Amino acid sequence: MEERKGFGTNFGFLMAAVGSAVGLGNIWGFPNKMGASGGFTFLIIYLILAVLCGFIVMVGELAIGRKTGKGAVEAYHVLSKKFKWMGWMGILSAFFILFFYCALGGYCIKYVVLNVGDLFGAGFGSNALAAVADANGTSVGAEVFGAFLGNPTEAIIYGLIFVAITMIIVIGGIGGGIEKVCSVGMPALFVMLVICIIRSCTLEGASEGLKYMFVPGWALANGVIKEAPDFFSVVSTAGGQMFFSLSLGMAAMITYGSYLDKKENLQKNAIIIVMMDTLVALMAGLCVIPGRFALDPTGKLGGPSLLFVTMQNVFDRMGAAGPIFGILFYLLVVFAAVSSSISLLEAVVAHFVDKARDEGKGDKRKLYSLIGAIGAGILCVIVCLDALGNAGISPADILGMRVDPSDEVPTWSADWLDFFDCIAEGILMPLGALLMSIMYGWELGPEVVHAEATREGQKFGAYGWFRICIKYITPLAMLLVLYGQIKEFFF
Ligand code: PFF
Repeated sequence: MEERKGFGTNFGFLMAAVGSAVGLGNIWGFPNKMGASGGFTFLIIYLILAVLCGFIVMVGELAIGRKTGKGAVEAYHVLSKKFKWMGWMGILSAFFILFFYCALGGYCIKYVVLNVGDLFGAGFGSNALAAVADANGTSVGAEVFGAFLGNPTEAIIYGLIFVAITMIIVIGGIGGGIEKVCSVGMPALFVMLVICIIRSCTLEGASEGLKYMFVPGWALANGVIKEAPDFFSVVSTAGGQMFFSLSLGMAAMITYGSYLDKKENLQKNAIIIVMMDTLVALMAGLCVIPGRFALDPTGKLGGPSLLFVTMQNVFDRMGAAGPIFGILFYLLVVFAAVSSSISLLEAVVAHFVDKARDEGKGDKRKLYSLIGAIGAGILCVIVCLDALGNAGISPADILGMRVDPSDEVPTWSADWLDFFDCIAEGILMPLGALLMSIMYGWELGPEVVHAEATREGQKFGAYGWFRICIKYITPLAMLLVLYGQIKEFFF
């Protein structure tokens, strides 16, 4: 039977796992949530949750994968009688996230091209829209994004290019594709981020952004938010953000864990992944938020509008060097998005590849990567056509929930991106992590993780802590996060 090849080095594994964690969520989610939910206080709560839940679930998932050496479906099947169906839930989550991730990844490629156009004064840059923005009293960023959303064909082409890039890397396999790309891409992302931070933080007026991000109460006192969030909602916002950001509660980390060498240290790797992801989220904040306060003080602080309107305005107003920083910035976002999307597609593909190999049919990686990419591509087209709910085909429109276009509708129905996000990030991911902690805490026993983490004499100093958390604290915290997510998406 063909051999199941894993990561060549621990560094390669770490770059791939950090790459999965570092994504759009770090850039448009974390900094804004931190600013709007108490600044430094939010950061402390986030870190406490990372220790109580993030680290615990990360070790648990890496252990499931490495112990069984299988993709998520088989891994749960081998381990548990009661929870054997959970792998499918993980794969479903990965697939749902992939749909909108590819559409957004495509948007990011479009913005790299746009800034290249600006650099050379070409027609495909944003320059042509400056006069329109002046005439309409809007901004270049708003005009560029409006025009892009109004042209679904272009969005679809870029989205499918992103799907193709993801597929090609996954076809390369773990060592030949994912590890190679992430080992170069993640350090490159880090360097680009540092350059962009230096530029952003040295702009005049940047200190306001730093105050927004770090000083508790600043956002409220300065009218950026209207109402202070209560403690409960801060905790659930931080928890929800953490799960999505660490790629937990679904199949990605289980799958990557299954390719990890038995002699590597699970505890150490889990700590590094959690720390690096948080570091990059903070760094992303230092890159985007000061720029927004300095050059587009009325711009959106989070979500797609931050990336595709506010940041484009920032580069547009930066002067001659703007397009260079624009290219660097959007390129780093493309790297962040690709390193996440490959983990999503791999989580889906690994199951079928393993099955084919076990049945002696050889490694059908190419075929399954292609099928997975076609599936993701079709739904990515729907997200592109929907143009973030602006095309009149959102779930709310189809279900007739909006009498007037300005009617408020629950988040899950506002557009197809939010609909897929609601199923994955809102329900399946927190539920997956909750059930996984119950499986370890109450069905299998935490000793299973201990045995795996120490199988070749490695240290697992945090085991006492892990045992208490996985049985009591993590499930309770996950219930809270699940409740918060349901509230956010449905009410
Ligand atoms: N962690 C990614 C982000 O923060 O954008 C999202 C994600 C990627 C979630 C991969 C899950 C996953 F498997």
